[in-house]
Amino acid sequence: MRLVGCLLFFCSAVLAIPTISVKGSKFFTSDGDQFYIKGVAYTASANNANNIVNGSQCELDAPRIKELGANTIRVYSVDPTLDHDKCMDAFANAGIYVLVDMATPVFFINRITPEWTKELRNAFAQVIDGFQKYDNLLGFFAGNEIINDPKSTGAAAYAKAVIADMKAYRDLMQYRKIPIGYSAADLDDLRLQQQDYFNCGSDDISADFFGTNRYSWCGASSFTKSGYDTMYSQVDGYSIPYFLSETGCLGSGDFRIFDDQIALLGRQMNDRLSGNIIYQWGEQPNGYGLVSYANTESGTGAVKTKQDFSNLKSQWATLEPAGVKASDYDPTLTRRDCPEFTSGVWNIRANDQLPTLG
Ligand SMILES: *[C@@H]1O[C@H](CO)[C@@H](O)[C@H](O)[C@H]1NC(C)=O
Repeated sequence: MRLVGCLLFFCSAVLAIPTISVKGSKFFTSDGDQFYIKGVAYTASANNANNIVNGSQCELDAPRIKELGANTIRVYSVDPTLDHDKCMDAFANAGIYVLVDMATPVFFINRITPEWTKELRNAFAQVIDGFQKYDNLLGFFAGNEIINDPKSTGAAAYAKAVIADMKAYRDLMQYRKIPIGYSAADLDDLRLQQQDYFNCGSDDISADFFGTNRYSWCGASSFTKSGYDTMYSQVDGYSIPYFLSETGCLGSGDFRIFDDQIALLGRQMNDRLSGNIIYQWGEQPNGYGLVSYANTESGTGAVKTKQDFSNLKSQWATLEPAGVKASDYDPTLTRRDCPEFTSGVWNIRANDQLPTLG
């Protein structure tokens, strides 16, 4: 909640942060403004188990994430049996939205032996029940990198079944139209298949948005060298929001300069892409952190910013795309065709039914 309209000692209204919804290929706030994701993967601790449950820690982190210029965090796993109120409020107070992966520490779609069971469905429903009440919940990922090679392409049908059934659950419960989408691994030979697969079919079974985890702009790169030119052309006419759900290649330098942000959030691409999420907030042995915690192991305490933090902050400070107003945006976009079965590459037939529960 944010306090607004305070006159002298009298505060006239407590307004909630606007909610986010999808219209065509873009995100909009409930105030009618286009919303671009400037995000960070919020990975405070290495073990991912008790994410966004330590309210005091979130209250320390939220102002720093705001200082960076981010408007979104991504959380890879939540335990729906725990209380997230304090953290969600801390982020709302800082104007920060949260993208939550439906996976819990116990329940997720396994790419090797994919199944869609009542237990999984109930766990995901519990995540939705727990988070739908927060106005700063941006959306849910039904899966992250469930497909990571040709062998696992069959699992895509399970990820899409999650989307279909959890959208049905959201609507049955009459929750707001919280966007439910997918976060894909960036695979050279399976980019377009994944992008098309999660988009194809009717509205009730297809993703509300598509994210891709992409690390192809590394060091001193460019629009063409990074392959962003091809990505941009492949998003032409895409009917749902498309963004990078993870990015921030380390390159070979001592720190990142993030000039990819100029291409992504600037005029070159911001008419088709909806922003990106930088990997990642807290430092871990992999070296991707923007900040390091006083207690590295537990990811708690005050943070110390790294050079990457300052560099990203400077880039974002100059990039405030206004986009279009929802009221001026009335697109006619068509869904993609489902990808063709290709032996050894894409193992789902275009007209296969989605797996059903059980
Ligand atoms: C929660 O965060 C506070 C502030 O950093 C820290 O002192 C405390 O140890 C944390 N609690 C847990 C259980 O990690």
